[in-house]
Amino acid sequence: MKLCKNRTHYNGELRIENVGETVELKGWCAKKRNLGSLVFIDLRDKTGITQLVCNDSLLEITDQIKTEFVLYAKGKVIERSSKNKNIPTGDIEIEVTNLEIINDSELTPIIISDDADTSELVRLKYRYLDLRRKSMQDILKLRHNVTRSVRDYFDDLDFTEVETPILGKATPEGARDYLVPSRIHNGKFYALPQSPQIFKQLLMITGLERYYQIAKCFRDEDLRADRQPEFTQIDIEMSFVDLETLYGVIEGMFKKVWKDIKGIELDTFPRLTWKECMERYGSDKPDIRYDMELINVSSVFANSSFEFLNGKIVKAIVAKNAASSFTRKDIDSLTENAKKNKAKSLMWFKVNEDKLEGASAKLINEEEAKALKNILNYENGDLVLFVADDSWLNVVSSMGATRIAVAKKLSLANPNEYAFLWVTEFPMYEYNDDGSLQAMHHPFTAYNEEDSHLLDTDPTKVRSDAYDVVLNGYELGSGSRRIYNQKMQREVFDRLGLSDDDINKKFGFFVEALKYGTPPHMGMGLGLERIIMLLANTDNIRDVVAFPKIQSAADMMNDAPSFVNEADLTLLGIQVTNTEE
Ligand code: AMO
Repeated sequence: MKLCKNRTHYNGELRIENVGETVELKGWCAKKRNLGSLVFIDLRDKTGITQLVCNDSLLEITDQIKTEFVLYAKGKVIERSSKNKNIPTGDIEIEVTNLEIINDSELTPIIISDDADTSELVRLKYRYLDLRRKSMQDILKLRHNVTRSVRDYFDDLDFTEVETPILGKATPEGARDYLVPSRIHNGKFYALPQSPQIFKQLLMITGLERYYQIAKCFRDEDLRADRQPEFTQIDIEMSFVDLETLYGVIEGMFKKVWKDIKGIELDTFPRLTWKECMERYGSDKPDIRYDMELINVSSVFANSSFEFLNGKIVKAIVAKNAASSFTRKDIDSLTENAKKNKAKSLMWFKVNEDKLEGASAKLINEEEAKALKNILNYENGDLVLFVADDSWLNVVSSMGATRIAVAKKLSLANPNEYAFLWVTEFPMYEYNDDGSLQAMHHPFTAYNEEDSHLLDTDPTKVRSDAYDVVLNGYELGSGSRRIYNQKMQREVFDRLGLSDDDINKKFGFFVEALKYGTPPHMGMGLGLERIIMLLANTDNIRDVVAFPKIQSAADMMNDAPSFVNEADLTLLGIQVTNTEE
């Protein structure tokens, strides 16, 4: 490890073996304790803490030192009489001979400690202080190590990293674009890329064959715990390969990263089609660390005397041994959650002394109970939850959301397990709320030609060659085999209701490019932050971004976005109607 002049070690490094050495250290005063003739200082840097012991010959300096002062210390490593087992350097301390104040510090508005319980908004306002904590420095380093591992991997496989423009034209990922006004072309706007999708396909047309990029992407969409308005993709595209090669390349990347970072050997990822995934887990990004699969019990209710069950699609989950863990209030909140996910209602019963108890027990006659038990194999102490509807999608989605909520309450997922899977054969199209068709992935995705007979009659049944990588309930990445002939591309645009004029305006240059010898190609975009979240064991994306935005897409530290002055707007040819500060 190379260190700058006048410093021999980082503060997290010294151990009992170093006793007797003279060392020079630098860092921040994390804590000062005055014990009569001795002053103890915890000296902190990004690697940890070393305890300094200063005797009264240094009193003039130690008197001045306050928390977060920047210090230089020289001294001898000695064994501590009372050891601190909580820190790696806890066996030793430094008997200081020289102590200097490199810089002072005002009282910091947040306490810089992993134990401090500071609210996230305040931490984000003073992010530069928040990042001074070791746990945050570790995440910055983790992110660096992941991108380094990824770059080495793709380099070894003959991929070329190419940077694509940030100032561009609208891209097709389906979120709202961030727009940048042009000064030179008054009234015109650039769009920031939602992904480098079109450029990477154009790079395949150039003959690059194997492209990757650690690429910045921008999307003006509603933010969630795993979404930032600007985020990073590990973006990949390959020509002349088949799907098996692509799956192998991507799995290989994850295997290398998990080996390099965690020392874990990952197994081959299982594959599930979208349809199977939805049937079994009610989600296209299932957490398969636990079972509790959705089970079809429609046959039980085929002749039910209740209209809302009779002849409906009914799916159930059995939460083993969970009856006593769910109060009425817990079940109410599960119901609310299921309704948010389009269930009409959530039905449930608990099994107690071979009897069904609870709100929906009275809906089930003896015969039905027998049939249900046969299918579900429930036992005393189990909680059974089910939804009925005419819409298959509403049933599976709401039961999928219920499965997740139940598993969360019962802590069914092992936090140390990494359960990757591929989800394949996504539908090519889905319906918007207004009844129009939209591409489920993006409109450059090729459909499975076996299904082309369904294009006119039942387009949502047409399977595409789109795939996702999923880990522990998170969609880590998406990709597809691309359309590489302009006829199919135009046909897909047409089906999405894009007029010739729209196509020409938005993607004319791209349709034109497809004419000139486009090789078959496919690729994928992987969310870097989500990968880091899972490696860092956090469910908050802001933890893995150095300077993140909050839910309202604002930056707490620098107050972006902000109003700009009139003269700048005039230059851009823009008039702003809302000027309230
Ligand atoms: P897609 O839109 O599915 O595909 O995005 C790929 C992956 O990017 C990550 N991601 C995000 N991460 C954080 N914040 C966000 N707002 C956000 N949005 C997306 C997710 C997601 O799986 N061009 C295609 C890929 C391709 O076809 O090659 C694309 O962008 O992890």
